[in-house]
Amino acid sequence: MVDVRTVPDEAGSLPRFPMPRETPFHPPAAYARLRDTAPVSRVRLWDGGTAWLVTGYDEVRAVLADPRVSSRRQHPGYPFATPARAAAERGERAFISQDPPGHGRLRKMVTKYFTVRRIESLRPVVQDIADTVIGRAAELGPPIDLVREVALEVPARTICHLFGIPAEERFFFQGRDHTRNALDSSPLEVEAATADMLGYAADLVARKERRPDESIVSELVRDQLHTGAVDRDQLVAIVRHLLAAGHDTTANMIALGVLELLRHADQLDELKARPELWPNAVEELLRYISVFQISPNRVATEDIEVGGVVIAAGEGIITPLAAANRDGRAFPDPDTLDIHREARHHVAFAYGVHQCLGQPLARLELNVVYETLFRRLPGLALAIDTDRIVVRQYLLSSLGELPVTWPVNR
Ligand code: HEM
Repeated sequence: MVDVRTVPDEAGSLPRFPMPRETPFHPPAAYARLRDTAPVSRVRLWDGGTAWLVTGYDEVRAVLADPRVSSRRQHPGYPFATPARAAAERGERAFISQDPPGHGRLRKMVTKYFTVRRIESLRPVVQDIADTVIGRAAELGPPIDLVREVALEVPARTICHLFGIPAEERFFFQGRDHTRNALDSSPLEVEAATADMLGYAADLVARKERRPDESIVSELVRDQLHTGAVDRDQLVAIVRHLLAAGHDTTANMIALGVLELLRHADQLDELKARPELWPNAVEELLRYISVFQISPNRVATEDIEVGGVVIAAGEGIITPLAAANRDGRAFPDPDTLDIHREARHHVAFAYGVHQCLGQPLARLELNVVYETLFRRLPGLALAIDTDRIVVRQYLLSSLGELPVTWPVNR
């Protein structure tokens, strides 16, 4: 066991975080090296500070389940991956950045909208959106950019439906969210995008007060804001967060999932022939891709021991889900995509009290989009060589574009 308080400050010689990917298709090789030798080890951040990088599956779950770690971005030891992340997250007031018991009280206000049952009742809506979007892409004819025409469209239109937002407004929050999530945005750009998004969410709340409808936002106004259970700023922060959390993650997962399936043609053929395999394949794609790649982050509020290391109170902790999901102790032969594997214990949606609230919705969208896309366009193929595909260094694992084509009968 190593007590960090006895380790001299060696920030200058520590590996830097975030670490670059060597190939678009796998997390940084450094994760595997560290996991074998020191699954909890120190890294250097952009601001000269250090944090603990956790790369083992058991260790990541132990940290995320530990009540002695905090998600509060305002805590002085909370680690931010880049200046852009610091600008995006320092002012966060939604429950993702709160600890129990306040976290649970706020999360409970929205859990009923995302239960498996409630989301399953949305299946016809999501299917209809996917049919429309993919039908239009087919009409456009090949080649198309799958990111723009399909991957961004389905989650954004679904969120618009849930929140009672006219579909044409999706571009407003898509663009702002993109700026907030890009690791190389300037802090000023991020602050402006955040202010725009909060302004948009405040306006949406006001619109639903004036003209209530069946949407989640209207219900939150009626049941939470008007009863005094939540104040206006908190509700606006939650609405902003839900708008963001619900579409960029899923959009990138759609695009990267299609890419992986096209790269694994045998498994894709099997899925086309046996659509009942899609739910298991979706879990494996979630594990393999781990779209939420360089976080979550936490800060210890007391000394804790993880993986034989003592993390001192006040120190930052980074738990990249992409590292945990490629741990061979939890997933044999972890760097191989295998749609038949038992992958449901992956941590692509994190673990512990902050585990993704929207996972039933994400699962529904992914299943519907993949199945519909490959049924409607069975000959779908990449329109460029795989070595020209760029996975961006982004809060999420992200594709800027995915040019695809398919045979057309003329
Ligand atoms: C939290 C991943 C889609 C809403 C999280 C967290 C992860 C995650 C890893 C935990 C963050 C942390 O521990 O700090 C994903 C992935 C998605 C996805 C990979 C798609 C493939 C969605 C959708 C929604 C959503 C569709 C719904 C609108 C949320 C919310 C939280 C959250 C509200 C905060 C939960 C809390 O703090 O209690 N998500 N998410 N997510 N996600 Fe998702």
